[in-house]
Amino acid sequence: MTVNKQGRYQQSSRGEFTISTDPTKLDVRAVHAFLTESYWAEGIPLDVVERSMRNSLCFGLYEGKSQIGFARVISDFATYAYLADVYVLENYRGQGLAKWLMECIQQHPELVGLRRWSLVTRDAHALYEQFGFTPLAKPEGYMERVVPDIYKQSATGSPQSAGKTGVKTQRTQGSGR
Ligand SMILES: CC(C)(COP(=O)(O)OP(=O)(O)OC[C@H]1O[C@@H](n2cnc3c(N)ncnc32)[C@H](O)[C@@H]1OP(=O)(O)O)[C@@H](O)C(=O)NCCC(=O)NCCS
Repeated sequence: MTVNKQGRYQQSSRGEFTISTDPTKLDVRAVHAFLTESYWAEGIPLDVVERSMRNSLCFGLYEGKSQIGFARVISDFATYAYLADVYVLENYRGQGLAKWLMECIQQHPELVGLRRWSLVTRDAHALYEQFGFTPLAKPEGYMERVVPDIYKQSATGSPQSAGKTGVKTQRTQGSGR
């Protein structure tokens, strides 16, 4: 990835496709539309997606200005990163876009040299294995607290506050994320 004209965000292009970490390019509603139908975040409210994006390093995948894929990284940018919400829209799959997204993520200057990465996947192990991920070496040492049906339980109807495009971010001010 290269630093863009403003010198703040990372960007990489291949033909009509672009991967960018510029939060103003993100289409929160497009990301929500995918995630709320996904097997891992079914029913997730828009405001939760918006908050998760605001507090993550997000990688948007675009055809022109249209968002066709996404991944986000939750990290301290020193020792650890968790990779989440990776997707490419169905019509665009099978042409190496997710692998390119993974390359961009792994090459991001603020994500180099971390001691540990983790992720959870149902069936895309063979994608992540190509980027050094392995099954847990010592699963007995891992613990988690999960509420798998949290979005089905909560009928809070929290306000759908996010705008169509762009994520206002505090973390990314003045950084190259
Ligand atoms: C998984 C996903 C992001 C892959 O996107 P893509 O752009 O089609 O992937 P690519 O074309 O870059 O190639 C994926 C590579 O991983 C492999 N792979 C392994 N498991 C896979 C899976 N479940 N789905 C797709 N590819 C998979 C493919 O065979 C391919 O490897 P190859 O080129 O060496 O044959 C896409 O299928 C998707 O969005 N799926 C629905 C959401 C999802 O499951 N996300 C992952 C959550 S952890």
